[in-house]
Amino acid sequence: MSSHLLSVDSLSRDDVDHLIRVAARMEPIAQRRKVTRVLEGAVLGNLFFEASTRTRVSFHAAFCRLGGSVCDTTGFTFSSMAKGESLYDTSRVMSGYCDAIVMRHPEQGSVAEFAQATNVPVINGGDGPGEHPSQALLDIYTIDKEFARRGKQLAGAHILLTGDLKFGRTVHSLIKLLSLYAPMRITLVSPPGLEMPQHLVELVASRGHRVETREHLAADFSDVDVVYTTRIQKERFTAEMSEGFSLSRDYTVDKAFMDQRVNDHAIVMHPLPRDSRPDANDLDVDLNGDPRLAIFRQTDNGIPMRMAICATPLQV
Ligand code: ASP
Ligand code: CP
Repeated sequence: MSSHLLSVDSLSRDDVDHLIRVAARMEPIAQRRKVTRVLEGAVLGNLFFEASTRTRVSFHAAFCRLGGSVCDTTGFTFSSMAKGESLYDTSRVMSGYCDAIVMRHPEQGSVAEFAQATNVPVINGGDGPGEHPSQALLDIYTIDKEFARRGKQLAGAHILLTGDLKFGRTVHSLIKLLSLYAPMRITLVSPPGLEMPQHLVELVASRGHRVETREHLAADFSDVDVVYTTRIQKERFTAEMSEGFSLSRDYTVDKAFMDQRVNDHAIVMHPLPRDSRPDANDLDVDLNGDPRLAIFRQTDNGIPMRMAICATPLQV
């Protein structure tokens, strides 16, 4: 496994299995039932040039749980990039201060460019519409745990990915990680114009998976095991796309959809945040008390998985 985590492309199935095993060992430390100082003295640099709650805070918490400390900068305004400093110079400077760096940036490829100028491990916390590898790893970890409880396996499972599959970087990383497993069925549903990039569909199909595309959720999904829904990434829309766009209620995952079209043993996932503004029609809150809703178990799993991601290149 490379010391950088820029894309899930650098991970083999063995790497994923290893990280899942390490994350499971991290659970008691993540919950403070055990204490470790394994990264004592190590410093993580958290550089976030785009909005974030989960990724920024959970990497911070994960590093602290391992005994390390964190310095961070958020937004362009409060970094010297606002004075015209390049990614190259920022990277050279930060690698003199930190032992590992997590970076989020609005441009695809920017985190990889930053990583080229440093020899400390760099983790891509999201690069525009590109990838979000640590999210995909925590998603796979969540599916693994949820399936284990239900006596299911990923091989042969049916996964529904829905929402903004064009700009949603979490689903780009996730579909590639899923493709490392034994053949499964993946159904893609997105509003017109927000489809999964064709090269990813082809990649997954070339690895023996059955990939189907549907135009809407008004269909029979009674054999689906995972409903993974995503927010419309309006911040990535061109002015032309934004003009008059509104998400039809037909793409909303809610209790009626789960009860009438899916089944009672599937799980519902979402990378979050969900857009709770009126008319956003994101994942409905009427599933909040439903045991199928795994979204907060999913966010909790971010800590042990990010501990595993940090500890693997730095310590174990
Ligand atoms: N938080 C995730 C991301 O940064 C998903 C989202 O923002 O909708 O990619
Ligand atoms: N899932 C995720 O990346 O959340 P944030 O954007 O809040 O970090």
